[in-house]
Amino acid sequence: KMDQFVSNLMGKMTLDEKIGQLTQYTSDMALTGPSIRAGYKEDIQKGMVGSIFNAYTPAYTRQLQEMAVKNTRLHIPLIFGYDVIHGHKTIFPIPLGESSSWDLAAMEKSAHIAAAEASADGLHWTFAPMVDIARDPRWGRVAEGAGEDVWLGSQIAKARVKGFQGASFDGTTVMACTKHYAGYGFIQGGRDYNVVDVSNRTLWETILPPFKATVDAGVGSFMTSFNEIAGVPSTANKWLVDDVLKKQWNYKGFVVTDYTAINEMVNHGNVANEKEAGEAAINAGIDMDMQGSVFAHYLKQSVSEGKVKVQTIDEAVRRVLEAKYKLGLFADPYKYCNEERAKTEIMSAANLNDARDIARKSFVLLKNYQQVLPLKKSGSIALIGPLGDDKRDMIGNWSGAGDWHKAVGLLEGMKAVAGPGVEITYAKGANIADNKSIVDQMNSQGGELVNDDPDALLKQAMDVARKADVIVMAVGESQGMTGEAASRSDISIPESQQRLMREIYTLGKPVVLVLMNGRPLTLTWEDAHFPAILETWFAGTEAGNAIADVLFGNYNPAGKLTVSFPRSLGQIPVYYDMKKTGRPADPNNKYSSKYLDIANDPLYPFGYGLSYTSFTYTQPVLDKKTIKTTDKLNVSVTVTNNGNYDGEEVVQLYIRDVVGSVTRPMKQLRNFQKVFLRKGESKEIKFTLTNDDLKFYDANMKYTSEPGDFKVFVGTNSRDTQEADFKLTL
Ligand code: IFM
Repeated sequence: KMDQFVSNLMGKMTLDEKIGQLTQYTSDMALTGPSIRAGYKEDIQKGMVGSIFNAYTPAYTRQLQEMAVKNTRLHIPLIFGYDVIHGHKTIFPIPLGESSSWDLAAMEKSAHIAAAEASADGLHWTFAPMVDIARDPRWGRVAEGAGEDVWLGSQIAKARVKGFQGASFDGTTVMACTKHYAGYGFIQGGRDYNVVDVSNRTLWETILPPFKATVDAGVGSFMTSFNEIAGVPSTANKWLVDDVLKKQWNYKGFVVTDYTAINEMVNHGNVANEKEAGEAAINAGIDMDMQGSVFAHYLKQSVSEGKVKVQTIDEAVRRVLEAKYKLGLFADPYKYCNEERAKTEIMSAANLNDARDIARKSFVLLKNYQQVLPLKKSGSIALIGPLGDDKRDMIGNWSGAGDWHKAVGLLEGMKAVAGPGVEITYAKGANIADNKSIVDQMNSQGGELVNDDPDALLKQAMDVARKADVIVMAVGESQGMTGEAASRSDISIPESQQRLMREIYTLGKPVVLVLMNGRPLTLTWEDAHFPAILETWFAGTEAGNAIADVLFGNYNPAGKLTVSFPRSLGQIPVYYDMKKTGRPADPNNKYSSKYLDIANDPLYPFGYGLSYTSFTYTQPVLDKKTIKTTDKLNVSVTVTNNGNYDGEEVVQLYIRDVVGSVTRPMKQLRNFQKVFLRKGESKEIKFTLTNDDLKFYDANMKYTSEPGDFKVFVGTNSRDTQEADFKLTL
């Protein structure tokens, strides 16, 4: 039915109308890139636009939709896209934060709620999930992904697609868009928009699996990345888009570029002008030009010159029209403009409740010496730090439709959760950053950094802190210091706040550091000087309540890092599934792979996170010593909660292929279970490994397993594990 409908429609379309369907413009409601096309509304009415992004609310999208449906010859509806990245108006933790929950159902649910709100607000399509594996915390966009691990990243990618798209496009879900295809997480030096140069093996082993996982989950659209790989910008990479994505993976959705990425090929220098850029893009398999007007300006000419086949354009148009059909827009172009649902569902009490719950799940307790946490609900607490009473930053980057005025700040949350028995006083203590370059760049993006006199702030904070029993310091980054175009060459807490921390430390009082940030930070000094550290990322609309729940023990934290926190900047890249090298680190051998000044391992490894209780593990037991490729291997461990609180633990299973036709990582995550154990309770946790878990791309790039020795590791994080051995035979 869809095929026939689309074929009929395409039979009536002129080449201009077809090119219009491949053209997307931002509205002037919000900007997520460097340019705007004046006159986009006239273009809509002339049938020269297929999609609008950065426009929402039922009223506004209805108005634009009417322009397309009523005024154009063929009445083809627009598809409205937007970056609904971690919530639409109810804002959830940033994706990196959410990934630390290791709770796939919770992540699916938050995407589902985001979709429900967005679809009530006129939107059909979100530019999420971002599935770029990233191992360089200087890159601001680590905040938008699911961390450093391929296996976990793939599970999370699938969960997010399922959450956004739901079981069907019934008007309460949105189409997802897997981005950024591909390699963006490997940009050199962590500097946004920089080049990427990775091996074919890294591409297949590390970068592509989460993308493929979303194809298998039925994602409706893909976005190409800004970067080149080995000299070819993704938007012109026929091998990547047409051969691998569309042909090899049999992907049926459409492919949109990133913002003006076609035009940017002229800067990349792989084409001489925009017309050539458009030809390279469409011939590589790109179906929609985001914001660049290149298809609109040049494709017709390229067809007449024989540089682009009409058939290529037809294939792209078909994919775009099919997406509109699947979303139900031909049946009812206003299906997603639901004023009633917008009023009742957006920021409903239930959604806020879920946002608070998911936020608590995303926090990672990095240190808790002598059980400083949870705090008592009595006595006096000084809340110090520029993020202590700051709602704007709490909701994080890429929260476009979110209203930070409606967020709960930490001071407000602490007061509400602690109740009247606790005296809480607040002082800002320092500016988020005094560095002029950072301040100027943040302020040019909307005046978000308010900078007061640093000395006066410090004095006031010391006066407040001196009078308190306990000090809670809320420090970190502003939300604009992470996300797109927010790379940092120094990933420590900004110097302005370090000065404050050093002074507070001299008071000798118990200090709890509450971190708000969008990337791994270097925290070596903080770890050495403060007894308790809680990583809360940018936790969303309910941030303050959720953090207070954890600080005061209403919720026992269980989050685990999905990215390694380096000891110092010079250690980057540091990630858990590293190779052994020919000269593994050996303290007794000068000529081994190590640093003179620091250890090789990160400060906090992948999978790490504490609880208010503690867990012990038995040695893993395997039900076989030798398996064949058709066998299943059962692994079991007993985990005991031997601390003083009920709590959850993420039990992690890793493998190592000891000898491979190509070298293998020392550990690779292959499964996990998040379990709840009452105080004193023990549980046997069972995993099953199959041949699929042992496969990799061999020396001939064949995806297979190889007979030989393997290790299984089970533990509380990627570093602290116990192991067992088995053999795979043919
Ligand atoms: O979706 C984003 C992308 O991640 C970065 N550039 C702009 C796009 C649309 O807003």
